[in-house]
Amino acid sequence: MSRKIIIDTDPGQDDAVAILLALASPQELDVLAIVAVAGNVGLHHNATNARKIVELAGRSDIPVYAGCSGPMRRTLVTAEHVHGETGLDGPDLPDPTVPLQTQHGVDYIIDTLMAAAPGTITLCALGPLTNIAMALIKQPAIAARIAEIVLMGGAYFEVGNITPAAEFNIYVDPEAADVVMRCGAPITMLPLDVTHQMQSTPARLAAMLAIGNNSATAAHAMLTFSETFDLVKYGWAGAPLHDPTVIAFLLLPELFEGRRCNVSIETTSELTRGMTVADYWHVTNRDRNVNYLRNGDAEGFYDLLLDRLARLP
Ligand code: RIB
Ligand code: CA
Repeated sequence: MSRKIIIDTDPGQDDAVAILLALASPQELDVLAIVAVAGNVGLHHNATNARKIVELAGRSDIPVYAGCSGPMRRTLVTAEHVHGETGLDGPDLPDPTVPLQTQHGVDYIIDTLMAAAPGTITLCALGPLTNIAMALIKQPAIAARIAEIVLMGGAYFEVGNITPAAEFNIYVDPEAADVVMRCGAPITMLPLDVTHQMQSTPARLAAMLAIGNNSATAAHAMLTFSETFDLVKYGWAGAPLHDPTVIAFLLLPELFEGRRCNVSIETTSELTRGMTVADYWHVTNRDRNVNYLRNGDAEGFYDLLLDRLARLP
């Protein structure tokens, strides 16, 4: 029985590879829809990119919705310096022909969760948490109906990437992240602690290119574009690969390890805005609201990713 998921995303090259990984795994994952959120770049580009990706994977049947065009309270911070002006620089993908759905993405999330049997839909969050927070605020009843929220975001042992204290997805909309952390739904977090271990080394990128199909070739072009900034920043053998870890967790959770602990979000200090304060050693009695993953098997992750990309058109 495949697991029903909604992917909330700001593609973004790494988001795109995550979506491809999900679409390459129909035995395990039933992708109900993709909902775009403002983050890496503006909402219009993110929604267009999501439509390009479903067509690249031969899955124009999957509806794409546009959600929120900016954070709940803050001014939108984007990352064109990493992802390019379009947010999906690298491959030359054709303009999408599949239409954007007319319903707002937040309303789609609410309506879908309220109509489905409780505990049957997982939310996969690959960008700022604005859409999910707004859905929880507009219809609090969805919190008890969500099977799990699996999100890429946060950092604790690895510190931040957009500021010394904060990871980008949380930093963009810390108030939204705070709403999500407090909502009571089961949450699994894939922070920079894990994604920084998943480095796209030249050998791994070469193996991706060697697959030879359109999807893997495009994924290779995406990652060889978006890696530029991080290779200079970190000086590592490969750039970290973030969002596909969310889908990999759903497919092979045994690739990752961590523990349940409290994760709280800094929303007031400008110095540490968006910091995910993880009580990993349980030094407080705060609610252990998050399955916080700290380590992952990089070889196993890339074996999975390359195997599944090879299954696509
Ligand atoms: O910090 C990494 C996260 O920010 C990833 O989701 C990437 O796509 C960007 O959105
Ligand atoms: Ca993302």
